[in-house]
Amino acid sequence: MSTIKVTGYHEANQTLALRDLEQSLYDEGKVMFQDVLVTLHGEAHRRRRLLEMKIFKKDFFNYYEKEVLPPVVERTLARFLPTGRAELMDFGRRTMLDLTADFAGIDRPLGTDEERNDMLRLLQGMAAAATLGQFDGDREPVKESVRQTIREFDERFFTPSASRRQALLDRFNAGEISESELPRDILTVLLRNEDAIELPRDMIVRETAFYYLAGAHTSVHSLTHSMHEMFQWGASHPEDAERIRRDPLFVQRCVHESMRLHPSSPIAQRKPVCPVHLPTGDEVKEGDTVVISLFEANRQAANFGEDAASFNPHRQLPGTLPPYGLTFGVGIHTCLGRSLAAGDVAKAGTDPETHQYGTVTLIARALIAANARPDPDHPPQREANIAREAWATYPVLLG
Ligand code: HEM
Repeated sequence: MSTIKVTGYHEANQTLALRDLEQSLYDEGKVMFQDVLVTLHGEAHRRRRLLEMKIFKKDFFNYYEKEVLPPVVERTLARFLPTGRAELMDFGRRTMLDLTADFAGIDRPLGTDEERNDMLRLLQGMAAAATLGQFDGDREPVKESVRQTIREFDERFFTPSASRRQALLDRFNAGEISESELPRDILTVLLRNEDAIELPRDMIVRETAFYYLAGAHTSVHSLTHSMHEMFQWGASHPEDAERIRRDPLFVQRCVHESMRLHPSSPIAQRKPVCPVHLPTGDEVKEGDTVVISLFEANRQAANFGEDAASFNPHRQLPGTLPPYGLTFGVGIHTCLGRSLAAGDVAKAGTDPETHQYGTVTLIARALIAANARPDPDHPPQREANIAREAWATYPVLLG
């Protein structure tokens, strides 16, 4: 039983594409991740992914960026602007919570701060399952607490959301309403189940909650890292500070560069389903573990240049290299929310008016427009005791 670590960019890329390597990052967190998309393999994974991809029907991104996102960002900003300050992680959590809940299909009928706080608490409770593999103490109490949190999420949020959608689907099936009157979210796609695949109810509960985790946590970290990098870069490059204020394509360039440096999931992990020859030259078999370091792959000087470990939004890359490197993975588990979070990569001639920017850039733009800047009296704090680099708090002034 050996563990092989892959750090080269091309090796990591090719390793993620190997079909005889199965997901293993969430093996310890089955209480939450059993049978959710990211842990499925082979035909079961293909069929579920195809079903869920139905959400991206024509015009989805335009609808999401023009209709779903602006009111959410406006509402969150309205909460903080009068105080003249915000904490970026908290700001990000509140915005992303609403956005990913809308995408997953979880209603918040009251729309109050209290309801949002309850949801945040449930989200944090379920997220504990993702790091069970690295938890040294007794895991059983943590698992039991995750089980209880899922039950509470089910009763409080999932069941009413599913009932409302099922009633709409019944009316749609009876020809009483049109497709455009159905909610555009994952829960509706799963309840509608156009491909008639097997979807037990408890699995749908976990899948919906998983979307919540996959979308919110990752994007919150990406947003805070991006704002930090832009603050730093703008302070030492005054000509670009001005560009950050007025050029949305440049802001997206900064966000992609920051995503490359700070992938929210620093590693991917797989286990072989049979003997496999890895692109590194290593031979692995069942029982072994393959760790793919997205963090290290994204900082390879051979691919991203001598200054690969530092932030440089003017980095020139060949068209074959995505500006965010392997941050969204590749292969069968490539992030399904990549376009939502990161948007399209701009090319020469991209029209800034119609370009799809992604949620992280759009939220960063709203913060920049609100004149967000580091609070000199309350410096940001890094998260202690966790393997990946992350911000614990990042106070800013607004207005
Ligand atoms: C900056 C934000 C994000 C980052 C860095 C990120 C990163 C990733 C990575 C690295 C994977 C692949 C995991 C693996 O290969 O083991 C992944 C998978 C996934 N992500 Fe994201 N993600 C982000 C945002 C989102 C959003 C907004 C959503 C949905 C709304 C989402 C939904 C998913 C799903 C469903 C999968 C599993 C896909 C599959 O297994 O087929 N992600 N993400």
